[in-house]
Amino acid sequence: MNASLAQKIAADPRSWSPASWRGLPARQAPTYPDQAAAESVEARLRRYPPLVFAGEARRLKQQLALASEGRAFVLQGGACAESFGEFTADIIRDTFRVLLQMAVVLTFGAKVPVIKLGRMAGQFAKPRSADTETRGGETLPCYRGDIINGPDFNAASRNADPLRMETGYFQSAGTLNLLRAFASGGYANLHQVHRWNLGFVARSPLAAAYQDLAQRIDETLGFMGACGLTPNAPQINETEFYTGHEALLLPYEQALTRVDSTTGDWYGCSAHFLWVGDRTRQADGAHIEFLRGVHNPIGIKVGPTSTADELLDLLDILNPEDEAGRITLISRMGAAKVRTHLPPLLRAVRTAGRRVTWLVDPMHGNTISTAAKVKTRSFDAILAEVRGFFDVFAAEGARPGGVHVEMTGQDVTECVGGAHRLTEADLGARYETFCDPRLNAEQSLELAFLIAGELTSRRLAGGPAA
Ligand code: PEP
Ligand code: CO
Repeated sequence: MNASLAQKIAADPRSWSPASWRGLPARQAPTYPDQAAAESVEARLRRYPPLVFAGEARRLKQQLALASEGRAFVLQGGACAESFGEFTADIIRDTFRVLLQMAVVLTFGAKVPVIKLGRMAGQFAKPRSADTETRGGETLPCYRGDIINGPDFNAASRNADPLRMETGYFQSAGTLNLLRAFASGGYANLHQVHRWNLGFVARSPLAAAYQDLAQRIDETLGFMGACGLTPNAPQINETEFYTGHEALLLPYEQALTRVDSTTGDWYGCSAHFLWVGDRTRQADGAHIEFLRGVHNPIGIKVGPTSTADELLDLLDILNPEDEAGRITLISRMGAAKVRTHLPPLLRAVRTAGRRVTWLVDPMHGNTISTAAKVKTRSFDAILAEVRGFFDVFAAEGARPGGVHVEMTGQDVTECVGGAHRLTEADLGARYETFCDPRLNAEQSLELAFLIAGELTSRRLAGGPAA
């Protein structure tokens, strides 16, 4: 797209409405065979309460603005795809718990507040590389995530069913309710830092390092109390936890768009943070059109095919006023490409004087297929991409804003490597993902320790990394 079209779109916000994406090309969109049924589900969703409140999204935006200046560090994590079949308190709690552990570890390394942002409570819709899947001579529509169709390979399951949007809404509400209770109801209290380590991670080689850190936190809290400082302040007793997902399924996102009564602005109220994926970020496409009108903080996946011109066009369209915290760029180049592909983009954004928060997603550029055709990722490649990303920022004298990972609190075997040296032969033991391979609880914590170590050594070396 040429710059004048980008400017024209950006200059005419009145032409935006929650439905203005309709009629524009929408990649990765399901076709609902029963359009009337889809419309009646959308009408119900439009009446249901919003899942988040605009003030929360604004607060997250302010915090992301701090991360863009290196004054906070973002930890965004969760499953590649949530599933309707795995909707239990234990799964939600375990993911939340590992994110809390990772955040504590990262706080020590980054020496700045860690913004906790779950890929949770709405991360259901998936972009796919092919529209269909063939097994044993039979071709069916591909699985697009539980909010659209089912993973089972039969025609009924693979049909796009609009009722799934309503199930997704209620599952998101239930998940968010528990997350809010954990965040403010005592579970996330820093005095409980030892207890987050229960479960199988407690038996891992990382347990000692974590307990050591927990001990230091305990001592600090004890010291603060002895000095008459308030170790029971809300910052200690509670945490702020935000949710985000890929805004892929636009009929659902549109139905949950609301006007904020305080400001009169539109917000996408399915989550605090919405991002556009690497496959749907066309400047003249439906997904960008939808996102430009909602006032949430927005993420853009930036992959090896992103060009500087395209990226600057997207910034013009999505953030014409250059509002701080509005745009988070999520680099997902792959370990082999990050050192060559990221620098020109980082430079172009800086030269244009744009305020953005950069995260590294070291997962989506590092997916490989084993000889047995199992999708996996190597822990070493994930770490190599994180290091490459930090090196690029150090070389440019810029500040990295955080990390974005696919992980779970469960003891799955989906990514190879890590402290227990999982091999391809181990992948069959507990391979449970519905989409991409995730770091298990232990690998997630290990990654957090390694990232914290990188941040610390770069800070000690006098670099601008933290
Ligand atoms: C994802 O985050 O699950 C995803 C599909 O990423 P990307 O758009 O970067 O490929
Ligand atoms: Co994924």
